Amino acid sequence: MTSFQFKTAEHIIMGRYEAENTTEHLRSVLGPVRFALIVSQPSIQRSGFLDRLSGELQRVGIRCRVITEIQPEPTESQLTELHKLIAGDTFDVMIGIGGGSVLDAVKLLAVMATNKASIRDMLGTGLVAKPGIPTLLIPTTSGTGSEVTPNAIVTLPDEELKLAVVSPYLVPQLVILDPILTLSLPPAITAATGMDAYTHALESYISNKANPISDMFALEAIRLISGSLEEVYHNGGVIEARERMLLGSMYGGMALSSSGTAAVHALAYPLGGKYHISHGVANSMLLAHVMEYNFDAISDRLSNVAVAMQLPEAGTARAGEAVINRITTWTRNLQIPQNLGTYGVEEKDIESLAVAASKVTRLLNNNPKPLGLEDIQHIYRKLLV
Ligand SMILES: NC(=O)c1ccc[n+]([C@@H]2O[C@H](COP(=O)([O-])OP(=O)(O)OC[C@H]3O[C@@H](n4cnc5c(N)ncnc54)[C@H](O)[C@@H]3O)[C@@H](O)[C@H]2O)c1
Ligand SMILES: [Fe+2]
Repeated sequence: MTSFQFKTAEHIIMGRYEAENTTEHLRSVLGPVRFALIVSQPSIQRSGFLDRLSGELQRVGIRCRVITEIQPEPTESQLTELHKLIAGDTFDVMIGIGGGSVLDAVKLLAVMATNKASIRDMLGTGLVAKPGIPTLLIPTTSGTGSEVTPNAIVTLPDEELKLAVVSPYLVPQLVILDPILTLSLPPAITAATGMDAYTHALESYISNKANPISDMFALEAIRLISGSLEEVYHNGGVIEARERMLLGSMYGGMALSSSGTAAVHALAYPLGGKYHISHGVANSMLLAHVMEYNFDAISDRLSNVAVAMQLPEAGTARAGEAVINRITTWTRNLQIPQNLGTYGVEEKDIESLAVAASKVTRLLNNNPKPLGLEDIQHIYRKLLV
C-alpha cells in the first residue's frame, strides 16, 4: 500500500432544519463571535433563510454583513473586488451558504483576508502561507462537496480556464448539512450537480492516488447517489432522497480530498473557462467517454462500482460496461446536453481546447491511463454530434 493522507472539516453537523440552529452551533463550536460575514446568492436569499439567520445573529449580539452577489463559478476579478470591498472589516467568521460557487468564494475570501496575498499568488498546491479567518459552510447543492475539500476553483476568463487553489487552510472549521435547503433546487441543477458528485466519487475510486480511505467514501457516495439521482430529479420534494444526495456529495468531497479527481475534471475545466458550460454539465458530458477511454485500465475497479450501484450485471463479465451504460442512460434521462455544438464549440476549436486541458496536469496525473493531445481531441470530438 502506498502512503496517503486524509484531512476533512473539523466539525460536521447534519440534520433536517439544523441550518435554523446556525447561531447556536456557531457559538458552541467557534466560541464567542462578534462580527460575521454572510456570503450567498439571490436564489438562497429568496428562501428567506438569510434574513432569518442575520436576524437571529443580531438578536444575540453578533453584527453581520451580508453579501449576496456571488456569480456562479466566480471569476478571479469578482473575488478580488469583493476582497477589496470587505477589507476594512475584521470578521471573526465567514459563513458561506450556497453551492460550490459560494463555498469556494468564501474559502478564498477567508485566506485572502489573513494572507495579504492575491488569488494569483495562491493558485496551485500548498501556496497559502497561513490559516484564514474561520469558516462555516452550508451547502445548498448536492454536488461539489466543497464544504469538506481543501480546494477552491476560480474562473480565469483571460486564460479561458478554471484553476484551483489547493491548501489545507481552505478546509472549514464547521459544516452544517441541512437537506431542507436543497429542496428548492430545480431539476436541471439537481441533475448536473448530482452528476458532479457522482463524478467525484467515480474519479476518486479509479484515481492513481486512490487509497483505503478514499475508496470507502467513494463507494458509499456511489451507492447513495446512484440510488437517489433519478428520484430527486423527477420528484425533488422527497426529503429522504435529498438527504442521501447531500450525504453522498459530502462523501464524494471527502474521497477527492484524499485521492484527487482525474481526466474528466481536467477536460471539463476549459469547457467552463471558455464556453461557460456549468461544471456539472461539463463533467456529465465527458464522464462516459473518458471512462470508455480508461476502460482497459479500470475494468476490475468498475466491477466493484457495479456492486455499489446494485446493477443487475454486477458479478458478471459485463459489469464494467454496464456502469458506463448506466451513466449514458442517466445523461439521457436527466436531459443533460450531450452536444458541444449547442455551446458554440466548433471543430476548429478542438485543438486549443485540448491544449488547455493538457495543462491541467494536477488532475491528468491522477488518471489511470495517460492522455496525449490526440486522445483529448478524440474525446472532445465525440461531443461534436
Ligand atoms: N471546491 C471543490 O472541491 C469543488 C469541487 C467541484 C466543483 N467546484 C466548483 O464549484 C462550482 C460549482 O458549484 P455548484 O455545482 O454547486 O453550482 P453553483 O454553486 O454555481 O450553483 C448553481 C446554480 O444553482 C443555484 N442554487 C444553489 N443552491 C440552490 C438552491 N438550494 N435552490 C435554488 N437554486 C440554488 C445557484 O444560485 C446557481 O445559479 C464550480 O466553480 C466548480 O468548479 C468546487
Ligand atoms: Fe467537480
